[in-house]
Amino acid sequence: TQTVTYDPGFMNTANARSAITYIDGEAGILRYRGYPIEDLAKNSSFLEVAYLLIYGELPTGDQLTEWDENIRDHTMLHEDIKDFFNGFPRNAHPMAVLSSAVSALSTFYADSLDPFDEEQVHISTIRLMSKVPVLAAYAYKKSIGQPLLYPDNSLNLTENFLRLTFGVPTEAYELDQDVVDALDMLLILHADHEQNCSTSTVRLVGSSHANIFGSISAGINALFGPLHGGANEAVLNMLDEIRDEGTSPEDFMEKVKNKESGVRLMGFGHRVYKNYDPRARIVKGTAEKILNKLGAGDERLEIAMRLEEKALNDDYFVERKLYPNVDFYTGLIYSAMGFPPRMFTPLFALGRLPGWVAQYREMIDDKETRIGRPRQVYVGQDLRRY
Ligand code: CMC
Repeated sequence: TQTVTYDPGFMNTANARSAITYIDGEAGILRYRGYPIEDLAKNSSFLEVAYLLIYGELPTGDQLTEWDENIRDHTMLHEDIKDFFNGFPRNAHPMAVLSSAVSALSTFYADSLDPFDEEQVHISTIRLMSKVPVLAAYAYKKSIGQPLLYPDNSLNLTENFLRLTFGVPTEAYELDQDVVDALDMLLILHADHEQNCSTSTVRLVGSSHANIFGSISAGINALFGPLHGGANEAVLNMLDEIRDEGTSPEDFMEKVKNKESGVRLMGFGHRVYKNYDPRARIVKGTAEKILNKLGAGDERLEIAMRLEEKALNDDYFVERKLYPNVDFYTGLIYSAMGFPPRMFTPLFALGRLPGWVAQYREMIDDKETRIGRPRQVYVGQDLRRY
C-alpha cells in the first residue's frame, strides 16, 4: 500500500523545483534570480525586474528597450472588453472584476492559448503585462463613475497606470516623480515570492495545461483572500477602526492576544519569515518618506508604529516569531498616493503578475511537472447500505 503524508497547508511539501526566487525565512533573505531584493529595490525598475523574473537574466539595454516598447504597444484593450465593466454592480470589488476580466482575455485571444507554443506564450506574456494595469485602473474608474481613459503610450507601465487611475479627460494629468518611483519600487517588492498561495494556485491550475489567462485569473482570486493579498486592505481598515473608535493600541493588542476575539494583528506574521520580512524594512523607510511628503500628519502612521513597537516587545508575538510583513505599511503609502483601500490588493496583483507569469512558464517547461493532484486522508463513514 502507498503511504500518504498528511500535510495541511503544505508546510513541508515542495510541489515545484524552481530557479526563480530564493527565500531564507530564518535569515530574512529574499532574492530574485540570485539578486538581493534590497539591490533591486534600490537600483532597478519594475519592468527590468519583470524581465529578470520571466527570462532569468537582467536585460541588456536593447532588450529592456524592446521589452518596454512591446508592452507599450499592447496597452489598448479590445473595445468589447469595456462592455464587461458595465455589467458589474457599481460597488463590485475591483479584484473580482480584475479576475473576471483576465479570465475573459482568453476569449479575445483564443488563437494564442497553447502553453507549449513559444510564440503564443510570448505574445500572451506581453498582453498580460500591458493589459492587466489597464484593466485594474478601469475597474477603479468604473467604481467611481468616471470615464475610462485610453492609455498614453508615451508613458511606461507604472506611469500609464497612475494616469489611467487618477487622470480625467478634461485636464492633463501631471505625474509626481516621487510617487512614480515609490510605486515602481513597491511593485518590485511584490513581484515574486516563490510558492505562496496565489502562485501555487497558478501552477496547480496550469498543471492541467489550462491557458495562462485562466491560470492567472485563478491566482488573482487566491490573492483576494484576507490572509494573503487582502491583508494590505485589512491593515488599513484595522488602523481606521482603531483611529475612529479611539481604541488605544494597548487595548487593541489585548484583543489580539485573546484568541477568542478572533482578531489578528493584520500585517503581522508570515508562513516563511520567522525573523523579519526584508520587504517590510524597505517599505517602512518609503512609508516615512512618502507620508512626510503627501500625507503629513496621518495619524494612522503613528498608530501603526506604536502597534509595531508594542508587538516587537510582547511575549505573545516574540514567542510566535511574528514580525511586520510587507503589507503592514504598504496600505499607508497607497492611501497617501490617493488609492482607496479597495485598490490595494489590485496593486499587489499588478506587482505579482510577472512572478505568476514566470512561474507558469517554468512549470510548463519543466519536464517533471505532472498534473497537481493532492492526496487526502479519508475520515468519513465506513461502508453503509442504502
Ligand atoms: N496576529 C495574531 N496572532 C497571529 C498572527 C497575527 N497576525 N499571525 C499568526 N498568529 C498566531 C496564530 O494565532 C498562531 O498562534 P498559536 O500557535 O497560539 O495557535 C501562531 O501565531 C501561528 O500562526 P499560524 O496562523 O499557524 O501561521 P501561518 O503560517 O499558518 O499563517 C499568516 C501565516 C500570514 C496567514 C498569519 O500570520 C496571518 O494570518 N497574518 C495576518 C494576515 C497577514 O498579514 N497576511 C499577509 C501575509 S504577507 C503577504 C502575503 O504573502 O500575502
